[in-house]
Amino acid sequence: MGILSRWSWPDIDGLKNFKGTLVHSANWDLGGATWEDDAKDWQDKNVAVIGLGSTALQIVAALHPKVGKLYNFGRGKAWISPPFAVTKFSELLSRDVFSDENYVFSEEEKERLDDPVFGRQFRHALEQDMNSLHTVTMRNSPLQQQVQVWFKAHMIHRLAKKPEIAEKLIPDFSVTCRRLTPAPGYLDALCQENVELIISDIEHVTSDTVETKDGNQTKLDVIICATGFDSSYRYPFPIIGRDGVDLCDKWTPTAKTYLSVCVDGFPNCFFGLGPNSTIGTGSLIPMIEHQVDYAVQVAMKLQRERLKSIEVKKRAVEDFDRFIETVFTEKVRTWYKLGKEEGRVVGLWPGSTLHALKALKYPRWEDFNYEQEDGESSHNSLYWLGNGMTNNEKTLTGDRAWYLSKEYMDVPSIPTATIKNKV
Ligand SMILES: Cc1cc2nc3c(=O)[nH]c(=O)nc-3n(C[C@H](O)[C@H](O)[C@H](O)COP(=O)(O)OP(=O)(O)OC[C@H]3O[C@@H](n4cnc5c(N)ncnc54)[C@H](O)[C@@H]3O)c2cc1C
Ligand SMILES: NC(=O)c1ccc[n+]([C@@H]2O[C@H](COP(=O)([O-])OP(=O)(O)OC[C@H]3O[C@@H](n4cnc5c(N)ncnc54)[C@H](OP(=O)(O)O)[C@@H]3O)[C@@H](O)[C@H]2O)c1
Repeated sequence: MGILSRWSWPDIDGLKNFKGTLVHSANWDLGGATWEDDAKDWQDKNVAVIGLGSTALQIVAALHPKVGKLYNFGRGKAWISPPFAVTKFSELLSRDVFSDENYVFSEEEKERLDDPVFGRQFRHALEQDMNSLHTVTMRNSPLQQQVQVWFKAHMIHRLAKKPEIAEKLIPDFSVTCRRLTPAPGYLDALCQENVELIISDIEHVTSDTVETKDGNQTKLDVIICATGFDSSYRYPFPIIGRDGVDLCDKWTPTAKTYLSVCVDGFPNCFFGLGPNSTIGTGSLIPMIEHQVDYAVQVAMKLQRERLKSIEVKKRAVEDFDRFIETVFTEKVRTWYKLGKEEGRVVGLWPGSTLHALKALKYPRWEDFNYEQEDGESSHNSLYWLGNGMTNNEKTLTGDRAWYLSKEYMDVPSIPTATIKNKV
């Protein structure tokens, strides 16, 4: 059901009293064929973007040329990184890619990516780069310190026209405490005449005005809430486990799992991108793939051993929880912690991407309890040996010499000495 699919209105006093256009970034329902269509009459309008997350930054960068005045409301600070892997892009595509542009692939480049050899080489190079960055997430590590210096210099440089913004925006918390997304064009947008960054909590909203705690009142025609999602993992429908327990209740106040993929009390139930699935630096695609592979391995075990159910041990869930508690330390507000400054991290995997993939690759079967199928055969724990033959022989279908296929055969190389002797 997704991690970032349950959008919610921010808890802002009076928001619903606003009489202008009010929209949430994840529920853009203004009726036009595209957002540009929706914004075509906003040239003279005062538009607010609330939020300083990845979404808000991208909206501000794209929207400011189309509106009269754009106000970006934030209540904290944010690291703005240059786009990642720029050198690698330039090298692989044999052309200069500039660090503050949103990268656009040309049609020729897209065609080149269709070539399986180049496509694989390209993805491998980028993912290898991303997977080299994990130590940046370690508090006070040399790479974390180096990256802070680098990002700070980048922000100061891009904000040279309005240096007072750099002071308001540059955080004192570590990079990657909150999800880091490059925001090409955002810092340049903040330097434009028609853009204003307001860092102050919103006191309340009236029919046409946002009032902030610092006493400022801003008259508005449009409010765009880029204020994030409900990341509590409490799904809007019941999932009932053993003894009638609803997963929502089980996960109140905190969603806990075993390795992000399952939870005790919910046999035969496995998650893709459940709690603690997001990775601090890197793409979620390999994580999704490995979680699905995990569930497939479970299903194959159930079939092979003719089991009725598999259920993770409570102890294993508690141990994973204890491990998570020891890994995250810094105080900062983020959706990783349900939008709070402190408390259990429910968003992030407690390690690197490669660490997650390795942990999920080979299920530790001893961390699970099993139930055998009902009936007489279950008196012998090896009842799954069945009638002594496999399906291929019984039905005379499928390969009956499969052990000779390439994927099973181990062909040792011939030792060099032997070849020489023969010569
Ligand atoms: C703006 C944005 C940008 C992102 N960019 C990146 C990125 O660059 N790289 C990255 O790795 N990750 C990114 N993410 C994270 C992203 O959430 C995941 O990468 C990915 O989309 C999650 O896939 P999913 O299938 O688990 O969930 P989703 O893509 O959210 O899909 C969930 C689906 O479940 C459906 N659903 C929900 N409830 C029900 C129900 N009750 N009944 C039936 N259907 C239901 C929804 O309609 C939806 O179709 C981004 C997220 C957002 C919001
Ligand atoms: N790869 C990409 O290009 C991309 C792009 C967009 C999103 N994403 C993914 O989607 C995730 C969610 O991004 P998001 O930006 O939509 O959400 P988000 O990261 O949760 O950011 C929400 C923002 O809204 C602010 N906010 C919330 N309630 C508020 C209130 N009452 N008053 C004022 N401000 C309020 C938050 O402030 P506080 O921080 O102070 O709470 C925060 O700045 C990202 O972390 C990322 O994983 C990825």
